[in-house]
Amino acid sequence: VSTITTFAGSDVGVWEVVRLEPVAGESLESIARLEVIEGIDRVDGARWTLRGVPSYERYVTRVEQRNLIASSPPLGRPEATRAALIPIRKSSGWWDLPQDERREIFERRSHHIATGFKYLPAVARRLYHGRDLGEPFDFLTWFEYAPGDEDRFEELVLTLRATPEWAYVEREVDIRLSREPG
Ligand code: HEM
Repeated sequence: VSTITTFAGSDVGVWEVVRLEPVAGESLESIARLEVIEGIDRVDGARWTLRGVPSYERYVTRVEQRNLIASSPPLGRPEATRAALIPIRKSSGWWDLPQDERREIFERRSHHIATGFKYLPAVARRLYHGRDLGEPFDFLTWFEYAPGDEDRFEELVLTLRATPEWAYVEREVDIRLSREPG
């Protein structure tokens, strides 16, 4: 069983919120700080909590998986004092598609992995799934990078949002975070 990870928006927590803005659909209530907790699913005093679990990979091929493993940095690098939490929900039109058609849109037409790969190892990432938990977002995407890579991360996000895959995104909130070094 994968450990539930809880993202709690509140007045405490390691991560300071630099900005929080809706990209599609309803936003989330503004918060000052974000706390990331593993293994606990309720947080007292939080304005909101979002939950997700790491899961198996749906779309990667053997070669992509090997390349990703070789180039992906770990979370928690000391220099990676910037982060993004981007919760995303996709439409029923996406979820109704069979697996092969989703892969077709995700990679052959949108180049999600090929594009993302160009930003490794600058960006560390983790994908959490919330859909089967009955959460408001299907995915909680989490990224960590150094301050000097902020502009490149911005470019990556804008590139992905312009792809056919994003036509299926019906709710997205972009939360940018910063923490003290060390
Ligand atoms: C840092 C570079 C990135 C890389 C290397 C990357 C790679 C991947 C890979 C390999 C998957 C597929 C996982 C699977 O097989 O189930 C995936 C899924 C996903 N990624 Fe990225 N990604 C990157 C950046 C981003 C960014 C910036 C966003 C959001 C703006 C994002 C949002 C998502 C979402 C929502 C999914 C789930 C898609 C679905 O299952 O329908 N990714 N990513």
